[in-house]
Amino acid sequence: MAAPPVAHHGSVLRALLLENVHPAAVEILRDAGIEVETRSGALDEAELIETLADFQILGIRSKTQVTRHVLESVPGLLAVGTFSIGTNQIDLDAAASRGVAVFNAPFSNTRSVVELAVAEIISLTRRLTVRDKALHDGVWDKTADGSHEVRGRTLGIIGYGNIGSQLSVLAENLGMKVVFYDSAEKLALGNARRVETLDELLQVADAVTIHVDGRAGNAGLFTGDMFARMKPGSIFLNLSRGFVVDLASLREHILSGHLAGAAVDVFPTEPKKRGDHFDSPLRGLDNVILTPHVGGSTLEAQESIGHFVAKKLRDYFLTASTTLSVNLPNLQLEHTGVGRIALLHRNVPGVLAAVNQVFADHGANIEAQMLATRGELGYVVTDISDVTQRGASAKLMAMDTTVRLRIRDAFDRPEFPPGPAAA
Ligand SMILES: NC(=O)c1ccc[n+]([C@@H]2O[C@H](COP(=O)([O-])OP(=O)(O)OC[C@H]3O[C@@H](n4cnc5c(N)ncnc54)[C@H](O)[C@@H]3O)[C@@H](O)[C@H]2O)c1
Repeated sequence: MAAPPVAHHGSVLRALLLENVHPAAVEILRDAGIEVETRSGALDEAELIETLADFQILGIRSKTQVTRHVLESVPGLLAVGTFSIGTNQIDLDAAASRGVAVFNAPFSNTRSVVELAVAEIISLTRRLTVRDKALHDGVWDKTADGSHEVRGRTLGIIGYGNIGSQLSVLAENLGMKVVFYDSAEKLALGNARRVETLDELLQVADAVTIHVDGRAGNAGLFTGDMFARMKPGSIFLNLSRGFVVDLASLREHILSGHLAGAAVDVFPTEPKKRGDHFDSPLRGLDNVILTPHVGGSTLEAQESIGHFVAKKLRDYFLTASTTLSVNLPNLQLEHTGVGRIALLHRNVPGVLAAVNQVFADHGANIEAQMLATRGELGYVVTDISDVTQRGASAKLMAMDTTVRLRIRDAFDRPEFPPGPAAA
């Protein structure tokens, strides 16, 4: 049964979900008592500003741009859920400074990427693409030349994060040996072996696969030298970011026969929309699988993203939890059942003492409290009985460090109205 509507300044909280966000998200928000309106397309800046005036929650995918101007023009906006992995389409700093929480889905499509990588490792190692093409061209090319089992071969994973480590597990289940290189300290799963240098990995790997993140320093990470240092007859995969790999060098090493094949899902520049023309130095090469950035694109991933982001938004409104918010300090305070005050503030010395002094002055007893900070922001959530009646909230609102104050007077009467956003 749906929860009673979540009140906001006396009216119901409203969410606008754009770009065909998965229906699972609509259901989760409605079940939490939030009114939801959906639209299939993206909105441009002017349309977004006009439409958002009546909404406190915005849900988008990758096409809607939430600029500083949008955030400044819609003071009633409290949270943005981006039903995607990336958050480049949102001005995160502008959102944080105005007390707008942003949530994304950092690992809802991890498994989809991993499964594509597994499929490609087997396909390339078996030269399936070449056999397939010959048969489509009417040629019966029955041969074992260049075809191998993956069992017993070594997979070298560069970047052992969500995707790299999950791939490590599946590859071992296929009987592969796994070595990995990561610039950070990482727990090796199963029998995977960490190596200290990229060179060590390149010397032993029959398949090299890149799963580093998109930090600027990773531009041009994999260039001609590195392809030359890979084992003859090995294969190469990139499903991370397009700018990480020099595709002209990859082409040379495929054409020379040094590499037996490659799979590339991400490109330095990618066409904007479905049906657009695509070009690349890798087009037309033997045993090279090209996919249009679909590593994470499965129906399962879409649904999982819908669930994940909607739950984060729901929890932000029902419990003030900021767990996994990409721009606010992260915290989650267990329920005590009394009223809750969530104060986002500028992170300067003495704020917590000043806040608690306000409570003490009003004779309020703190039942539970938690503070987290992130850069210039601090977030303190306090459970306290009866606080609105005692007038402490007005004092907290008046503090010059306050960015956003939300108060819920009891868990059976959910109410988290917005406080002031910083100018
Ligand atoms: N193809 C797709 O559709 C698709 C879908 C999802 C994610 N991705 C991309 O896949 C990549 C990995 O995603 P994730 O969720 O596993 O990220 P993650 O942040 O969990 O893991 C990245 C790992 O790479 C390591 N790393 C970063 N730079 C490195 C370097 N220079 N050398 C060695 N290690 C380095 C980090 O320490 C981290 O462990 C990202 O670039 C992401 O954008 C692509």
